[in-house]
Amino acid sequence: LARGYHEKVISHYENPRNVGSLPKADSDVGTGLVGAPACGDVMKLQIRVDENGIIKEAKFKTFGCGSAIASSSYMTELVTGMSLEDAGKIKNTEIAKELCLPPVKLHCSMLAEDAIRSAIKDYRTKRSRLSSAASVDAAQPTASASPAA
Ligand code: FES
Repeated sequence: LARGYHEKVISHYENPRNVGSLPKADSDVGTGLVGAPACGDVMKLQIRVDENGIIKEAKFKTFGCGSAIASSSYMTELVTGMSLEDAGKIKNTEIAKELCLPPVKLHCSMLAEDAIRSAIKDYRTKRSRLSSAASVDAAQPTASASPAA
């Protein structure tokens, strides 16, 4: 079964790190859900971010091949403690290199790159929605306090 795969892939595949889910509705959680058109594999990657934009926690669920599972497991380890900015710059080739994925499995690591980007985007969209809601709230008392001449 494992023949031809690098031991790092096997290790992450057999003992994946950070499997699970974070509460999607939490305001400090970003969720990325992506699929690989080539094979139909699906990866969900979630991050919890602190007020300084540092990823505190990452979880994944991957319905896919061993390389996709290994890539997402490795990705969660890699991004924990990273700033959103740095995490958004991670390339699938770095993951493929670390796990020694063969060329035919490159798209599996691409899934992990897409997933972290999508999680970051989701987090940022959520924050900007929250902050515009907050500024509307803040603006309201002023508006209602203005004299209704
Ligand atoms: Fe499709 Fe690996 S074979 S993600």
